Amino acid sequence: MVEGKAPMWARMLRVYREKGPGGVWFGGLSLVGYRRLVLMERRLDEPVPEISPRVEVEIRPLGREDAAAFAALGQGDAGVFRDRLARGHECWGAWCSGSLRHVSWVAFGEAWVEYLRCRVLLDDGVGYSYRAFTHPEYRQLGLATARGAVFMKALQKQGRTALLAAILPDNPGAFAPWLKMGLRRIGVVRAIGAGPRPRIFVRLDRAAAAPVRWRFERAGWEAPP
Ligand SMILES: CC(C)(COP(=O)(O)OP(=O)(O)OC[C@H]1O[C@@H](n2cnc3c(N)ncnc32)[C@H](O)[C@@H]1OP(=O)(O)O)[C@@H](O)C(=O)NCCC(=O)NCCS
Repeated sequence: MVEGKAPMWARMLRVYREKGPGGVWFGGLSLVGYRRLVLMERRLDEPVPEISPRVEVEIRPLGREDAAAFAALGQGDAGVFRDRLARGHECWGAWCSGSLRHVSWVAFGEAWVEYLRCRVLLDDGVGYSYRAFTHPEYRQLGLATARGAVFMKALQKQGRTALLAAILPDNPGAFAPWLKMGLRRIGVVRAIGAGPRPRIFVRLDRAAAAPVRWRFERAGWEAPP
């Protein structure tokens, strides 16, 4: 056993408490090479409502000078932060009393989907939202949704047309914020295969009428970013 890592039964118990039997089942399947994410999308030519958080907050995109504040939130180090910015990704943050308490990334062009070990290729105008995180003591105060409203208005001003997100289905807290921000489920993307290049399958829901403006692609042989 790796030092500091909880035994398997303790981790299963934690997953069972947080996500129920489905979480344990799909967590087990992910270990043998079956993973899936729910796809959610929102058009940006529709109005974005104002959303007021229940705490005073400043919402803005982060710049290179915010690397230390990003690292302090525990969602990646300064190198990861600078590398994503260099790829043209934007990191939007919510600051409470001067401290960064929430972040979320948006990619354009293409992005690496770490959980599925594949790429998503995006048409012009489509943003892929990933890695939303709120500091545990600041959850359910409306930070994610208020940030979402501000950042979607900014995307509209940039002339972007749609926002795509891929959500872990057994993550009970993850859907409510997206639904409140106007995203709707459009399908599921699955990765099958235990190696570094799993096969990727997308299934769109029948009701998903929007034209597909993105493509999930199996990883190549080169090292992932
Ligand atoms: C998902 C996450 C980013 C949401 O951040 P947040 O700042 O707490 O979200 P908000 O406060 O804006 O929540 C928006 C709505 O969703 C609801 N909601 C949030 N978390 C919830 C939960 N665990 N269960 C039920 N509803 C929840 C809120 O009540 C709120 O609705 P309301 O304003 O009408 O009350 C945060 O829970 C988090 O960091 N989770 C761990 C990382 C993660 O799972 N990221 C998502 C990857 S897709």
